Amino acid sequence: NLAQTAPAAPTAAQARSGARGRAARIVPFAHAMQVPPVLSPVSRTDSSDLYQLRMAETEVEIVKGLLTTVRAFGGCFPGPTIRAVKGREVVVQQTNDLDVHTSVHLHGGHVRSQYDGLPMDLVEPGETREYRYPNEQVAASLWYHDHAHGLEAENVYRGLAGAYLLSDPHESGLPLPGGEYDIPLLIRDARIETDGRLVYTDPYECPHMLVNGKERPYFEVAARKYRLRVFNVSPNRHVSLRFADGAPFTQIASDGGLLAGPVELHELTLAGAERAEIVVDFARYPVGESVVLENTAALETERPEVLRFDITRTAEDRSRVPDVLATLPPIPEATVHRDFWLTTFPDTRINGRKYDPDRTDVRTTVGTSEIWTIHNHLTRRPAGVFHAPHSFHTHLVRFRVLDRDGEPVGPAEAGLKDTVAIHPGESVRIAMTWGEYPGEYVYHCHHLVHSSHGQMGRIDVLP
Ligand code: C2O
Ligand code: CU
Repeated sequence: NLAQTAPAAPTAAQARSGARGRAARIVPFAHAMQVPPVLSPVSRTDSSDLYQLRMAETEVEIVKGLLTTVRAFGGCFPGPTIRAVKGREVVVQQTNDLDVHTSVHLHGGHVRSQYDGLPMDLVEPGETREYRYPNEQVAASLWYHDHAHGLEAENVYRGLAGAYLLSDPHESGLPLPGGEYDIPLLIRDARIETDGRLVYTDPYECPHMLVNGKERPYFEVAARKYRLRVFNVSPNRHVSLRFADGAPFTQIASDGGLLAGPVELHELTLAGAERAEIVVDFARYPVGESVVLENTAALETERPEVLRFDITRTAEDRSRVPDVLATLPPIPEATVHRDFWLTTFPDTRINGRKYDPDRTDVRTTVGTSEIWTIHNHLTRRPAGVFHAPHSFHTHLVRFRVLDRDGEPVGPAEAGLKDTVAIHPGESVRIAMTWGEYPGEYVYHCHHLVHSSHGQMGRIDVLP
């Protein structure tokens, strides 16, 4: 019985016991941002690409001048980017050279149950496991990360996360910025000690803000449009991003793919695991100027800067954002309604129950359309403590967010989603159709310390 081998989730107090000293001093923009390398396949066939990745400890420079040991995919922090194309299968052989269990989940992927990276489907230390991704869904910015039961929060915190960018002919035919002007930004918090140690602890003790593995870097850009794929890979916090000068930008995609049309924004809020693709036009700045991206959801004790863009050159720009980006599928017509209550006190639960891999919480069948109402049990934001919204995620499907407390959501949330923020007092309705792979899956809060402590349920999709 796999449940008996499940590692127990360390409580936050255990995890940080004796470990915290002094956080390394924050010097914004001390080093250049990196773009994670694109992983090369070890072999190809007519219909698939084979990749090999090793999960192992490695040393990286997150804070300028300090060496930090992380848990990395392929020696990279964050992991290397996998570029997939619709219709071509990706096979990833993952070898666990860590001394902890792992399980690799493709977040947002429409994947058979045995390749989904379920919490109990562990890759034991020393083992290799093969994951097969069919890539039958539309173009989207997905990501792969650890999902080992009870360990996912710490494993992701320590570095087991990377981008997986799926393209399709429709999306790559659009005149959007591409190539070196199409950049993933994996944003997350962390706590690095003065001796370089990465300490796993609660977000209010994590003063460092990392973009692609570097603490508050700068990024040299051309005075033209960029497509920025923004991922909130923070294990336990949401971010609200805006330019310090209030400059507008254009959202073109959410978790599951392109929006119907572009949406003008001045601020972008992402709960844990949410993604948004934005187009930013740096042509509004003269060469030599800089603009800082800030997090308005930073705590009062924290610095708001996240990333500085330095406009260092001009470049030709034939890209543009078309008025119509995609035709969204119709909203599923539900025949089944379910309610899910997310609680935080006295413990993190869904409908009063803690995740048990041997208990099926929801049974459905392939092709069934459902409306789920997700309720945050808290009625208001607690005063004086760190608080992030719950971040509700389901495996296998892309859902549509219908409304929050009965109010239809705005266009930025009306596209294909796999993760949605549930703020205190809110009830959010989502609609999905279960298809087309029968099997066991999970849904959970992506505030990973919550899922690690059981804010997760099991869904069995029957044929
Ligand atoms: Cu991003 Cu169940 O995970
Ligand atoms: Cu939660």
